[in-house]
Amino acid sequence: MLILGIESSCDDTAAAVLEDNQVRSNVLSSQDDIHTKFGGVVPELASRKHLQSIHPIVNEALARADLQLHDIDLIAATQGPGLIGSLLVGFSFAKALSQVSKIPLVGVDHMAGHILSILLEENKPSFPYIALVVSGGTSSIYLAEDATTFTLLGRTRDDAAGEAFDKIAKLLHLPYPGGPHIARKAETGNPSAITFPRAWLEKESLDFSFSGLKTSVMNHCNRQKQQNIKLEIEDICSSFQEAIVDVLCKKTIMAAKQHGVNTIVLGGGVSSNNRLRELFREKCKNANISFFVPRSQYCTDNAAMIAHAGYHHYKVFGKTSLNQDVYSRSQLC
Ligand code: KG4
Repeated sequence: MLILGIESSCDDTAAAVLEDNQVRSNVLSSQDDIHTKFGGVVPELASRKHLQSIHPIVNEALARADLQLHDIDLIAATQGPGLIGSLLVGFSFAKALSQVSKIPLVGVDHMAGHILSILLEENKPSFPYIALVVSGGTSSIYLAEDATTFTLLGRTRDDAAGEAFDKIAKLLHLPYPGGPHIARKAETGNPSAITFPRAWLEKESLDFSFSGLKTSVMNHCNRQKQQNIKLEIEDICSSFQEAIVDVLCKKTIMAAKQHGVNTIVLGGGVSSNNRLRELFREKCKNANISFFVPRSQYCTDNAAMIAHAGYHHYKVFGKTSLNQDVYSRSQLC
C-alpha cells in the first residue's frame, strides 16, 4: 500500500511517501529562520509559509519516491492537535487532493504519529509499551496497547518540556528553537552547578509541571545580574537540562512499573536530546526495561510518522469524511 503523508501542525511543512510502512521519501521544509527572530512560532506567519510550501513539498515527496499522485492508495494528513491556521493548510490541501483524485483520506492525530514513530525503525518494540511524547506543545505519558489504542497516563499541567527549553533559551538570548542550543551549551557545563527544583507533584502522579523550574532559572539569572555576577550560561543550561530529564525519566519508568510494562519508547522533538537518551538508556538498563528511541528525523515533526499512523487508523476505522474539520486539542492529550 502506498501512503502519502502530510504534516503541517505547527511550523514545519512536511510530506512523505510510505510503501508498506517502508519510507520511500520524507521531505520537510523548516520555518525556523522565520520564527527565530521572534523567539517562538508566530501562528499567522506559520500559516502563510505553509501555504507557499505545501504544494512544492508534496510534489517533491512524490518525485523522490518516483511516483505520481494517481499511484497513491491513501492520503494521511494531520487533523490535530496544533495551530488551527497551520493545520487548515495541510488538511484542506489533503482534502482537495482526495476530492479530485478519489483517493481516500484519513485524518491523523499528531500524537498518534509520535507514539508510533518508533515503528518506522527496523528495530521495533512490540506492544504493549509506555510512550513518552515530549515536544514543544506536549509532555505526555501513554500506555500503547496496540497501534490504535492509547491511554493517557500523565501530562504536563503547565509548560511542555520543549516549551520550557525554548523559553529558557530566549531568556539566555539563544536562538529559537532553543532545545538544541541549550543541549549544545550543556555539553560543557556542570549539571550539578545549580540545584534547580524538580516538581514531583503528588506521590504516584505521572503528571509533569515545568513552570516552577522556569521561574527558578529566571530568578537565578536575575539574582546573578543584580549582584553583577557573570552568568555561567553552560552551567545554567546543564543544570536546567538535568532537572528536566531527571523528572521525565523517573516518571516514565514509574509509569512502566505501575502498569507492569517492560518497554519504554520516546517520541517528539525533545527526545532527540542526547542527555535524555543517555539517562533513559542507563536507568532502563538498571530497571530491566527495554528502551527504544527513533532517529532524530522521526522524533521531530515529520510526515512519515503521519503516513504510518494513518495506515493503522485507516485499517481499523476506515476513511475520514471530507466534511471533517481540524481540531486544536487532541483527545489523546
Ligand atoms: O516535536 P517537535 O519537532 O515540534 C512540536 O513541538 O510540534 O518539537 C520541537 C521542540 C522544540 O521545543 C525544541 O526546542 C525541542 O523540541 N527540541 C529539543 C531538542 N531538539 C528539539 N529539546 C531539547 N534538546 C534537543 N536536542
